[in-house]
Amino acid sequence: MHLYVANDYQELSRRAAQLFIEAVSRKPDSAVVLATGDTPMGMYRVLTEHIRAGKLDTSQLLLFQLDGYLGVSLDDPRSLEGWLVRSVLKPWGIPSDRFVRLPEDATDTDLVCSQYDEAVRRIGGFDLAVLGLGPNGHLGFNEPPAAADAPTRVVSLTPESLKSNARYWGSQEQVPRRSITAGMDVLLQARHILLLVSGERKREILRKTLFGPVTEQVPSSFLQLHPNVTIFADRAALPDEAALSRSS
Ligand code: F6R
Repeated sequence: MHLYVANDYQELSRRAAQLFIEAVSRKPDSAVVLATGDTPMGMYRVLTEHIRAGKLDTSQLLLFQLDGYLGVSLDDPRSLEGWLVRSVLKPWGIPSDRFVRLPEDATDTDLVCSQYDEAVRRIGGFDLAVLGLGPNGHLGFNEPPAAADAPTRVVSLTPESLKSNARYWGSQEQVPRRSITAGMDVLLQARHILLLVSGERKREILRKTLFGPVTEQVPSSFLQLHPNVTIFADRAALPDEAALSRSS
């Protein structure tokens, strides 16, 4: 794992965007799965500026939704697809035929999950996975315990995630109880994983991710076994041990 330490969130967003630009410039038809949540929004805004300035060509990019809440419609403010549409698809000009959804209003969830995994397999796996880090180590909504080969599926949110996600929607009661998430399997098979971590509240889970035992109880710890992970963390998120061994 390569760990890059930024002074603050702005620098983290700029440097992560730079890595994204390099990856997509090398392979313009990259298949990329994108997280929502607060952390990647700064990076997405930087990328929007580059795209609007004609410095990044997204005309061949294929995007995948990482996760969503089950049982919400697209126009529900809590829809993670809606969030992705507003913050990425529209500003980047990505048409719906280059976006693979994880439909939050699905009734046959087994079917849509297997179709998603099949779509990822058909294109030969993700080139790049842009992920945030849940306070319990979830990647997407792969709540602990999550096996490294867990498929795309429906997951019940843990009390920790319900509490943490209450900040987006006002109260815990507003947080849907179940989610649909790209599985650990397809995420860990991505050729390159970019993990963004910001703020003091992520320090302990970043420590476990980097230095703890590899365990299903901390899904992000499986990143230790992946050959190509780049972590951008800001100083506030940096555990003491990482300060000694960091790359930059
Ligand atoms: C969201 C997602 C989640 C978040 C994680 C961190 O699509 O997949 O795993 O990345 O909960 O959220 P923030 O960035 O808001 O701290």
